[in-house]
Amino acid sequence: MLKIAVLISGGGTNLQAIIDACDQGMDAQVVGVVSNRKHAFGLERAKKHEIPAFYIGKNIEASKRTETLIQTLKDLEVDLVVLAGYLAILEADFIKAFENRIINIHPSLIPKYSGKGYYGMKVHEGVIENKEKYSGATVHFVDEMVDTGQIILQESVKVDQDTPETLQKKVLKIEHKILITSINKYIQGEI
Ligand code: GRF
Repeated sequence: MLKIAVLISGGGTNLQAIIDACDQGMDAQVVGVVSNRKHAFGLERAKKHEIPAFYIGKNIEASKRTETLIQTLKDLEVDLVVLAGYLAILEADFIKAFENRIINIHPSLIPKYSGKGYYGMKVHEGVIENKEKYSGATVHFVDEMVDTGQIILQESVKVDQDTPETLQKKVLKIEHKILITSINKYIQGEI
C-alpha cells in the first residue's frame, strides 16, 4: 500500500480528496500531513481522520526546517509526497531526498500562469484579466524549480462569464479529479 504524505498551507480540499479516495478503496494511505502554517484547516482535516499532523514552519529555526521535514517524512516511511497548496519553497536537499517521488497540483494549464508569483487566486485573476477562453489544472513531478517538473496530467475547463472566485471553484473540482487519477497512475507504475 502506497504511503503518502501531503504537504499543505491552507484549507486542504485536495488533501480531503485523497483521504476520501483512500476510504473508497484507493490502494494508498495518508500517513502524515505537514503544514508550514500553524492554523491551516487541512491540519484539522488530518486530525479528524486520525492522521499524524505536523506543523513545520516558523516554529522551527529556518536552518533546521528542511532536515526536520525530511526526517519527519522518512520516519513515516513515505513513498510519495503530494504538494497540495503547499506555499513554502522546497530546498534542493528535500527534492534530492525524495527524487521523482514528489508531485504537485497547480491550478492552471502549465506553463501558463505558473512559476514565481502564480499561486492560488493570483492564477485565476491572471486568467480572467487576460480574457483566456480556457483554464484548468496540472499535476506534475516536482524538480528544483517552481512548477517546471514533468507534467503527469492536465485537464482544461472553459472560462465563461467567470470571476476569479467562480473560476477557482471550477478548477478546484478538476484538481481533485486529476490528482486522484495521477496518484492511481503512480500506484499502477504507469508514471
Ligand atoms: C489549490 O488551488 C491548489 O491548486 C493550489 O492551492 C490550492 C489548495 O487548495 N496549489 P486546497 O488547500 O487543497 O483546498
